[in-house]
Amino acid sequence: MKNETEQQQVDRIGVLTGGGDSPGTNAAIRAIVRRAAEAGIETIGFQDGWLGLLEDRAQPLALRDVSGILHVGGTLLGTSRTNPFKRPGGPEKVVESYKRNRLGAFVAIGGDDTLGVAHRLKDYGLRMVGIPQTIDNDLWGTDYCIGFDSAIGAVTDALDRLHTTGYSHHRILILEVMGRDAGWIALFGGLAGGADVILVPERKFSIGDIQRRIEQRISIGKRFSIIVVAEGAVPEELGCQVARETKADEFGHVTLGGVSYYIADRLSKLTDLPVRVTTLAYLQRGGTPSPFDRILATRFGVKAVEFILEGRYDVMTGLQGNRVVPVPLAEALRGPKLVGQELITLAGLFY
Ligand code: F6P
Repeated sequence: MKNETEQQQVDRIGVLTGGGDSPGTNAAIRAIVRRAAEAGIETIGFQDGWLGLLEDRAQPLALRDVSGILHVGGTLLGTSRTNPFKRPGGPEKVVESYKRNRLGAFVAIGGDDTLGVAHRLKDYGLRMVGIPQTIDNDLWGTDYCIGFDSAIGAVTDALDRLHTTGYSHHRILILEVMGRDAGWIALFGGLAGGADVILVPERKFSIGDIQRRIEQRISIGKRFSIIVVAEGAVPEELGCQVARETKADEFGHVTLGGVSYYIADRLSKLTDLPVRVTTLAYLQRGGTPSPFDRILATRFGVKAVEFILEGRYDVMTGLQGNRVVPVPLAEALRGPKLVGQELITLAGLFY
């Protein structure tokens, strides 16, 4: 779908970071401010995601404010899971803040929830550009989202560590990772970390399958196994995801977690080997960005401003091969991008 371009002078832009944070977010903010300044455009940061626009909590971002943050994890603006469309008069308050701050355009950094709000605000006349940032890596139109590579690094390091204690104690170690409804983190992390079993939401699993794999390894003298399981993986016997709490957030998401304990409880009845669980949780979201994420975030931040200079709106920056291209938000948001059969088959070769 060709995007209409709206060539119009822009003097000030807004930026926010929403949803789950990740390493690389600050690197994107830094690139936006630096590219905007080069074009004579002022950047205004809004605090804590869409809540900052609802409450008009803004802070000017000058070059000195983003100096030295390339390698700093998290987001200097703060974030939240606020959905203006779930607040009374929310969209209208966002429009008021946008106009009160004399913004000509806006850059939203985040995942499907954050960019989904940006997409809907087009109907209120706001000029939005998105930057895909989520460790889940589940947005269409981009090979990678900011934060994914850094999360894979954390999972890989955790699996390397679990290998040494697993083979020392002859144990079955289960690592539960994030990713919500997509298995990108478990699959890429599992491959990089040499997991013996990789369980993803895209394919239901049975405890019997896991048991057979463990027995196969024992038959060749491997009295330990490392299992990586995505938090959204679905046990056949259960038929649904395991949630830590059923209260949904403003985007309808429940907090997933606990599938690793479900597996451990049943597996320990089927094998003599001890079974232990590690939940990586927020270690996947913290720390310094990987070099790949620093470069990706820098390219996305620069390109987002250039889309504004070109008058391209209701798009997000997408990495396709080695090119950063404009991806219509309608295309990017057509449901979570899930792991395909080819990669699932590839992962299956290694266990
Ligand atoms: O969307 C990123 C993510 O880390 C998911 O993988 C995870 O399920 C969710 O956020 C956790 O949400 P919160 O940080 O609100 O607990």
